[in-house]
Amino acid sequence: MERVFLNGRFVPREMACVPVTDRGLLFGDSVYEVIPAYGGVPFRLAQHLDRLGRSLAAIRLENPLSRAEWESMIGELCGDCGDLDRSIYIQVTRGAYPTRSHRIPAEVTPTVIAFSSAIPERDPRIARQGIRAITLPDIRWHRCDIKATTLLANMLAQAEAVEKGADDAIFIRDHLATEGTASNLFIAHEGQLATPPNSDQLLPGVTRDLVLELARDAGVPCREAAITEQDLHRAEEIWLTSSTRELAPVVRLNDEIVGDGSPGPLWQRMDQLFQAAKHRIRQRARARSENQR
Ligand code: PDD
Repeated sequence: MERVFLNGRFVPREMACVPVTDRGLLFGDSVYEVIPAYGGVPFRLAQHLDRLGRSLAAIRLENPLSRAEWESMIGELCGDCGDLDRSIYIQVTRGAYPTRSHRIPAEVTPTVIAFSSAIPERDPRIARQGIRAITLPDIRWHRCDIKATTLLANMLAQAEAVEKGADDAIFIRDHLATEGTASNLFIAHEGQLATPPNSDQLLPGVTRDLVLELARDAGVPCREAAITEQDLHRAEEIWLTSSTRELAPVVRLNDEIVGDGSPGPLWQRMDQLFQAAKHRIRQRARARSENQR
């Protein structure tokens, strides 16, 4: 049975309820994280918990759990995952209060929610054929570095992409490409990778940082630099990266073909390195469970 962590207790999913006056529901007054777990071992947990801490600080909400408490709770949820790839979803809201008020309450009792979901195997067509994306104006607020649950603009952009026959959208703000609707952006041009620098215009992605690390270790030239709309259109490769999507190669942008219309050589190389990093986590999980037997 799937369990949900709710305010300090594990409860069956259908019993996990929050009051209608929860500020997460009424105001979107909450932040979240999505942490992949391979073979029951969370991937880059420290980086995800660091980012959660930064999101909470940015919305002036004290972290309700210590690092050890987060790790232990996530460890328990991962224990339910078995060999499967799952993602751990965490959400912290400012909690429920008797009256609806825009004013942040002085005394807060946050709501803490966590549960795991299956990460579906990557569709083999993505590695063979890539995905399609469109560009759309970035109508989001100016604190996209906070992993806030207020995701209407992201969802509407995703819906428009699908309506236009694409898989996803890449946001453009002031002629600069920022990120995807739920992913970071990389381009390759003349053998060099580039991704926009972290700022309040985009989420500091954990997968993005891993790709940067892997590229540096492998000697692949990689820059953190602004990507203009023009750079995007003349890129030989475009990828979107996230914890659940991994590295997704974009082969069509609006009506244009990207590169030769198939996932490019730098994507192939970086995806292999990424898969190898994942494989090492799975091996660690296997070794750990054999030691426990
Ligand atoms: N989203 N940018 C945005 C707007 C995102 O929502 C995400 C991830 C990323 C990539 O971050 P990371 O590599 O740390 O997953 C970038 C998650 C997966 C989600 O909302 O489900």
